[in-house]
Amino acid sequence: MLHLILLESALELVPSELTKLKRIQQHASRRKKKPTELLLDQSQHGEAMVRLQDNLRRGRPDIVYLSLLSVLETPLCKSGLLTVHLHVRDGRIIEVNPEVRLPRNYDRFVGLMEQLLVEGRVPPSGDSLLHIIDMNLGQLINSLTAEDSVSLLAIEGGTRTTIVDLEGLFPDDSLTPVIIGVGAFPYGNLNADTKLLFANHVELDSEVMMAWHVCSEVLWAYSASVNVAKERFA
Ligand SMILES: C[S@@+](CC[C@H](N)C(=O)[O-])C[C@H]1O[C@@H](n2cnc3c(N)ncnc32)[C@H](O)[C@@H]1O
Repeated sequence: MLHLILLESALELVPSELTKLKRIQQHASRRKKKPTELLLDQSQHGEAMVRLQDNLRRGRPDIVYLSLLSVLETPLCKSGLLTVHLHVRDGRIIEVNPEVRLPRNYDRFVGLMEQLLVEGRVPPSGDSLLHIIDMNLGQLINSLTAEDSVSLLAIEGGTRTTIVDLEGLFPDDSLTPVIIGVGAFPYGNLNADTKLLFANHVELDSEVMMAWHVCSEVLWAYSASVNVAKERFA
């Protein structure tokens, strides 16, 4: 089982420091929402965001969107061998139902994430597709860990690891849990506390990669290790 955690994801509602700004209020009124119900997005709020601490790491929900599109609905996911969680900036954890079919349109994804962050779950009633769970990152990792599990953090500066090496790190049976963390923010480094939660740190290229490329590489390497295609053809 592959447990993917998108770490320190740049996914949050517009913070109170910005809600009084005229541009934000205009944007909210166009969207027929309160400013506090808008998803912070560099492409919409870049000018206002310069006032925010750590602004270069924030307001990039597209990173989560593209990463989720890369991993959901894959053969691994359809085989029931993938779980996905989003760890967001304020420490909360969102559980993604692997059966969720994300909107193909980014604006609709933004609406979905706004509903999730305002209401705590999507849809508001019935079986949830995405919901905030009552755990912090450490508790989540503990809950996924077993005696023989493997935990990996994809990170620049980690142990240089080719795709063949990566396959070698994965167990070849799908019962052993593999926990993999990938940062879902655009710039800067992962926090030291986050790094400490993963036993192995792997660098997958000599240059920085986009989070969704890293997610894809890890997912396909894992799928090869546990022979997903063979199982499905059988
Ligand atoms: C765009 S990067 C974030 C930028 C940041 N400089 C960093 O060090 O995390 C998004 C994430 O992709 C993963 N990543 C990017 N380049 C990588 C590489 N060369 N090897 C392993 N993981 C990488 C890391 O998990 C990273 O947090």
